[in-house]
Amino acid sequence: MAYENILVETRGQVGLITLNRPKALNALNAALMQEMTVALDAFEADDNIGCMIITGSEKAFAAGADIKEMQPKTYMDVYKEDFITRDWERAARCRKPVIAAVAGYALGGGCELAMMCDFIIAADTAKFGQPEINLGTIPGAGGTQRLTRFVGKSKAMEMCLTARMMDADEAERSGLVSRVVPAAELLNEAIKAAEKICSLSRPIVMIAKESVNRAYETTLTEGVRFERRVFHSTFGTEDQKEGMSAFAEKRKADFKHR
Ligand code: CAA
Repeated sequence: MAYENILVETRGQVGLITLNRPKALNALNAALMQEMTVALDAFEADDNIGCMIITGSEKAFAAGADIKEMQPKTYMDVYKEDFITRDWERAARCRKPVIAAVAGYALGGGCELAMMCDFIIAADTAKFGQPEINLGTIPGAGGTQRLTRFVGKSKAMEMCLTARMMDADEAERSGLVSRVVPAAELLNEAIKAAEKICSLSRPIVMIAKESVNRAYETTLTEGVRFERRVFHSTFGTEDQKEGMSAFAEKRKADFKHR
């Protein structure tokens, strides 16, 4: 597929998607989201890829869903096409890890897309917000739900009700991003994290991801039970044998399934 709104490349085992609508601050229109779905499908199916990164430009990860595209839609339009669901949740459904590398604005759907990834590494220039209230609407791709789980009710409520943006330091303090790095280092740092993930056992990485995600979907008792069961299942893999043998033998593990 020829992509017009994103750049897609591989760096070793890392699949990199760069949002690329600079004139619209990477506003997420239907064409871009569809291209991202195709790219993520391809990376998921590619056995050589162990981890994906979604990033944007220096100025904007993404300034939200495309307001100009949304503006003429009627209630019937959005209801019938179940607007925002189709294609938008693809990043959240990946089985391989997806890292968001965010510089500049991550607003509205941009913030929501970043939160669908497994973790966010932010440049010191990053700004997060859910400004939909200014447009007479509300977040429609999980903003009121995921942001509240990340930063708690008080901050999420303030951001959704007043459109206040959070800078990178506040986002790190609040648990929205895993860490903040200098803007010039953002992509390098994201690639380093992705390469580390790719060097590990892929099935065990996928099991760990599934288990952490379980914490958002179930009770503590059920989550801990789920974790114990999948922890037990890792003992049935060659890579667990290799990992523990390598530790005991004081050598680097050479995982078979990468
Ligand atoms: N949709 C469509 N176009 C957008 C856009 C968006 N979300 N955000 C920016 N653009 C366009 C602007 O219209 C402008 O285009 P023109 O040059 O053709 O006028 C271009 O990008 C540059 O934007 P600005 O001139 O506004 O740049 P700025 O530096 O002055 O301001 C900004 C930057 C504060 C991010 C401002 O652009 C802004 O407020 N953007 C909208 C943010 C927003 O409301 N996002 C939520 C969208 S709704 C949503 O996402 C729903 C959902 O939950 C899925």
